[in-house]
Amino acid sequence: MKKTLFTPHLSKSLLLTVSITALLNISPDAFAGDAPEEISQRISVGDPVAGKEKSTLCQGCHGELGISTLPDVPNLAGQWSAYIMRQLRDFWAGSRVDPIMTDMANTVSSMEDAFDISAYYASLNQMTGQANPNEEGKRLYIIYRCISCHGEEGKGRPMNNPMFPIIGGQHKEYLIKQLDDFRWGRRESDMSGTMPTLAQRMSADEIEAVAEYLSGL
Ligand code: HEC
Ligand code: HEC
Repeated sequence: MKKTLFTPHLSKSLLLTVSITALLNISPDAFAGDAPEEISQRISVGDPVAGKEKSTLCQGCHGELGISTLPDVPNLAGQWSAYIMRQLRDFWAGSRVDPIMTDMANTVSSMEDAFDISAYYASLNQMTGQANPNEEGKRLYIIYRCISCHGEEGKGRPMNNPMFPIIGGQHKEYLIKQLDDFRWGRRESDMSGTMPTLAQRMSADEIEAVAEYLSGL
């Protein structure tokens, strides 16, 4: 049943992906995670072309192509649309709070707009960072088993589980702030409780090292 419901959306998304790829002039040597089927999975439902227009305000901070130039503002390029939607819901509900972003989330006036905007960011070439040699961070990423949920190089979890955000290539300062927020109970959006538990076990130095490693992937 579900499948018949979703098939038209998926094929529509695939078409949209192809057209948006052409529209945005995305280079053919895009990263491994940016094959049309993968982009289509990230988009799920929602119309990325409409989302591009609806996200003008968001682009002011998150960048036109989902890459922000501000270290405290996360990149959204190639993030799971279902994860973006979930964060918007959390900002609306108050389980995630940020003095700036809570207000911004409240400017999104309909579910349709939220889906379209999320689809737009999901459709973009995935965020990627400047490689850095933080071997300690790499070791911690394996020891703490971050890899089991966030996937190889922080690029998401195969078979593509949109629960787990893409964190490889994200800004270091933003990653540190999130881990601190989980640690000190300021971000309560992880229903499983895993992130707060893990962040409480980590020292400030470990958080810094893992964030630096991730930012370079
Ligand atoms: C004035 C700057 C600004 C604008 C405009 C803005 N944001 Fe944000 N956004 C932020 C900041 C800062 C954060 C990080 C909040 C935190 O530290 O928890 C954020 C976080 C987010 C996140 C969480 C990402 C993650 O990886 O968890 C999403 C999703 C998001 N913004 C979507 C949007 C959308 C959609 C819009 C447009 C309606 C928008 N933002 C407009 C500054 C902005
Ligand atoms: C059992 C699965 C699991 C493990 C293990 C795990 N995470 Fe997470 N992580 C999640 C989930 C789920 C979320 C989204 C939470 C939410 O919705 O607020 C998340 C969110 C995050 C975020 C916020 C991303 C953003 O864009 O705001 C960061 C940073 C992060 N994890 C880093 C790590 C690091 C570093 C480790 C290892 C020390 C780790 N995670 C281990 C499941 C996991």
